[in-house]
Amino acid sequence: MENVRYEKRGHTGLITLDKAADLNALNAAFIQEINNALDQAEQDEDVYVLILTGTGKAFIAGADIAEMYEKDRAAIMEWSALGSGLNLRLENMKIPVIAAINGYALGGGLELALACDIRLASQSVKLGLPETSLGVICGAGGTQRLPRIVGEGMAKELIFTADVIDARQALNIGLVNRIVPAEDLMDAAFQIADAIGKNGPIAIRAAKKAIAFSNVSSIEEGCHFEREVFSRLFETEDQKIGMGGFLRKEKNVTFKNR
Ligand code: HXC
Repeated sequence: MENVRYEKRGHTGLITLDKAADLNALNAAFIQEINNALDQAEQDEDVYVLILTGTGKAFIAGADIAEMYEKDRAAIMEWSALGSGLNLRLENMKIPVIAAINGYALGGGLELALACDIRLASQSVKLGLPETSLGVICGAGGTQRLPRIVGEGMAKELIFTADVIDARQALNIGLVNRIVPAEDLMDAAFQIADAIGKNGPIAIRAAKKAIAFSNVSSIEEGCHFEREVFSRLFETEDQKIGMGGFLRKEKNVTFKNR
């Protein structure tokens, strides 16, 4: 059976990680399979939103400890570029990515979820960055993204203690956007994806880009960048469709992605 499945429903791509034997532990071959699925989503102009989820009790239980164990410094440097590269790729994808976290998201698994735009959690999730309990630290962006999402103090507590937290705690610190019953997780993810997919797809991509810029800019630079991106949208057909639809009092408009 395939470890990574890709399918499309409407304008939403769905990637399902299904390597139950080791709880979706991230090794080089598995990362390659995920990248292949991302290629499929990226090559399809008609996919406006992507959902990533796991099966069974894990989203991803971390990087593959067995694969990492024997590596020396040079080898692990090369290896961690795979995980880091995957997460940068996800973060920089033009379309929004929703992590539908169904179970354990630990270490490299949480790091991957941190690179997604929206995180939904089922009631039973367990989240944490336990790398320090293994004598190492995050190697795929966790020390950089977690503080930006939950603040430095909370990130330090989670990373220094290696504590694994539940859905309620994760929601309280803003690590996940919402908690849903396990059986409703995918419906909730698709509902959000559909809500995003109804809006102007070029505008959504522009919004993602502008929000990402806020991480690296002063407020002045950011507002300038936003104005640039905003004004470019007035060269699109979708701007005329959206604003024209309002002026004609149309209830629903269909954007054309151009
Ligand atoms: C390799 C793993 C694994 C991992 C689970 N497995 N997590 N193998 N790497 N990260 C394997 C187990 O060895 C076991 O294989 C099978 O999956 C089922 O796991 P169990 O432990 O039997 O399940 P359970 O008792 O339910 O416990 C679940 C668990 C535990 C709490 C999630 O598996 C666990 O603590 N896993 C490690 C979590 C972790 O430390 N993650 C961070 C890794 S470091 P067998 O063959 O025995 O059935 C990291 C660094 C990132 O991620 C760096 C990025 C570059």
